[in-house]
Amino acid sequence: MTESSSQTTAYDQLKLQLCAESHTWLVTGVAGFIGSNLLEILLRLNQRVVGLDNFMTGHRRNLDEVRSLVTAEQWANFQFIEGDIRELDDCRRAMTFHPSFESRGPEALSAGLTFPVEYVLHQAALGSVPRSLADPIATNTTNISGFLNMLVAARDAEVKSFTYAASSSTYGDHPDLPKVENRIGKPLSPYAVTKYVNELYADVFARCYGFNTIGLRYFNVFGARQDPNGAYAAVVPKWAAAMIEGHEVYINGDGETSRDFCYISNAVQANLLAATVTDPEAKNQVYNVALGDRTTLNDLFRFLKSSLNKRGVAYGREPNYRDFRAGDVRHSQADIGKARNLLAYAPEHRLEAGIEQAMPWYIANV
Ligand SMILES: NC(=O)c1ccc[n+]([C@@H]2O[C@H](COP(=O)([O-])OP(=O)(O)OC[C@H]3O[C@@H](n4cnc5c(N)ncnc54)[C@H](O)[C@@H]3O)[C@@H](O)[C@H]2O)c1
Repeated sequence: MTESSSQTTAYDQLKLQLCAESHTWLVTGVAGFIGSNLLEILLRLNQRVVGLDNFMTGHRRNLDEVRSLVTAEQWANFQFIEGDIRELDDCRRAMTFHPSFESRGPEALSAGLTFPVEYVLHQAALGSVPRSLADPIATNTTNISGFLNMLVAARDAEVKSFTYAASSSTYGDHPDLPKVENRIGKPLSPYAVTKYVNELYADVFARCYGFNTIGLRYFNVFGARQDPNGAYAAVVPKWAAAMIEGHEVYINGDGETSRDFCYISNAVQANLLAATVTDPEAKNQVYNVALGDRTTLNDLFRFLKSSLNKRGVAYGREPNYRDFRAGDVRHSQADIGKARNLLAYAPEHRLEAGIEQAMPWYIANV
């Protein structure tokens, strides 16, 4: 084995394997932050992708951006369905890839060739704890009824695997740190209830129908194409945007609250590994997807400020501290041992490296 091949990770191998062999994927929530990043890597790996989204919180501009980042040939491997996971028919429709005119060529064209979806990456949901507090019914309908529709459609389509976006919010009020998958507390918001119910349904589908799934409990994912606007923006894009525009940055509490910030490419890696894992022990499980470290909000503020300064965007202000936000947990940090052991997950980007990669996007898009 050469020196470089001895450092090859399971993820590197998987990418090589995928490049050599096209498969058919469904990404729901494809116009959103995580979904559009999954789309980008899959197209770069020459995979066929069906994307489903109703643009509730995602944007057409995210799809346009992915289009600008891949070749015309790769883009022709993408079929977009504007549809809603709350409609079972839309979910069923999304289980087949119909090649575009550009990609199918004369033989396939005459044969009417289609490809059944093999791997589902289900990301579509209404995110945000505050949104769910403001409108629990909307969150419930999309995140629970929509999720169930997707499970039924994927089970009936006999897909090879179903990987879904779970959430660290499922840890609720459990005090332990770091968070280990089998020790959870009571949910602290309607959003957390919906994500926990997803896990319960997933488990029941394995027991009742032998339909195995994998849930990925994301912890504070950040990166390019994460929406910096709106009342429900996540902290990293929200602060980056405020700094770029020279606005005040508000910190809820004393800034010593900490989170396990996970750069998007780590979350993408976890999805691809989970979708293609063959070990039966690894299936019908939930996994923490994070860096396995924690960073205080004060440190996050400093990292963002210094990254902007390096790029000539000076931000001279100090943060404005205000009251703690009700319901916010003080510290969050994942134990990522289970994903390491069973999925060979090995996050490649630490927080600072992720911020360095994402910052040009924030500067260009705010
Ligand atoms: N970003 C994070 O840190 C984080 C943390 C934990 C869990 N998650 C979960 O990850 C998933 C993706 O989150 P994101 O950050 O990319 O959010 P996002 O809002 O950018 O993406 C969600 C996408 O789902 C689409 N969508 C919403 N309702 C839909 C419906 N009824 N039918 C079809 N499409 C619909 C939206 O239009 C959007 O494009 C969500 O399930 C979210 O709950 C995200």
